[in-house]
Amino acid sequence: MPVKQISGRVTLTHAKGSSVELLLYGATVISWKAGTISEPQPIERLFVSSKAAVDGSKPVRGGIPVIFPCFGPPSHPEHMKLAQHGFARNEVWKFDSIVMDSDEGVSVRLTLEPTAGIAAKYDRPFHLAYVVTLVEHQITTDLHVTNTSTSTAYPPDNLEFQALFHNYFRAPANDVLVFPLQNKSYFDKTEASEEARNKPKMETRAGVDVRQFTDSVYEDAGGKYEVTWPGGGVEIAVRELKDVVVWNPQQAAGMKMGDMEDGGWCAFTLAMHLDANIP
Ligand code: BG6
Repeated sequence: MPVKQISGRVTLTHAKGSSVELLLYGATVISWKAGTISEPQPIERLFVSSKAAVDGSKPVRGGIPVIFPCFGPPSHPEHMKLAQHGFARNEVWKFDSIVMDSDEGVSVRLTLEPTAGIAAKYDRPFHLAYVVTLVEHQITTDLHVTNTSTSTAYPPDNLEFQALFHNYFRAPANDVLVFPLQNKSYFDKTEASEEARNKPKMETRAGVDVRQFTDSVYEDAGGKYEVTWPGGGVEIAVRELKDVVVWNPQQAAGMKMGDMEDGGWCAFTLAMHLDANIP
């Protein structure tokens, strides 16, 4: 069976050997194993901390958590009761359907709708559908956000949100370079003062490394990125998500995270980021 669902976990298996595992909790992809054309043996491509909770008690430290409706600490008035990075990564999603099951690939859809628990902290009308698709050498994640308001009043009942995929790619972080971010403006969230954090900087590096604690939000970053390291790399193509966050806590911040394994900062994160407003 290319799709299996057991105890809150969904496994997708491709005929050529690649696989994906995701939790209904947070719709978090916790494993993606794939080979390449030159090295067809599937290997794990994502990092999950060995100290991560995968029992639904807190968001998973690793894999691909889905972030909605806010990135970082809430700042929008409608988000003020929410925790950092919103609620989508720590709600149990519903398995909706198998979207595709063919020699080409396998794909499933998970959904999240307001529950009483969500409505107590976030009362906006929304429907989320998350489609995860596995083909031989590629994983695709699509988040569909719908404003379910039926109001015809003016001004319209807009849904303002941020959404991102918080990807933890398995990579030797100290040897990683990210392209092409040169000449893009970014906000450096590692700066100590609020004033400095809010002042845009210009990226001068051809390839961006994460050898130091890095938490940089690049605006309108282009949508096509390459993360490279000696002997490996990953290509990322993004639709609609206009910003990109390059984050790695390194030892300085990583040691302060209770669920980050010792040395886990040697994994690498690149988060795709969207600010949106759906009327
Ligand atoms: C990144 C943010 O996307 O996520 C960082 O830019 C944040 O500021 C990091 O520290 C991890 O967040 P969390 O909530 O998963 O510990």
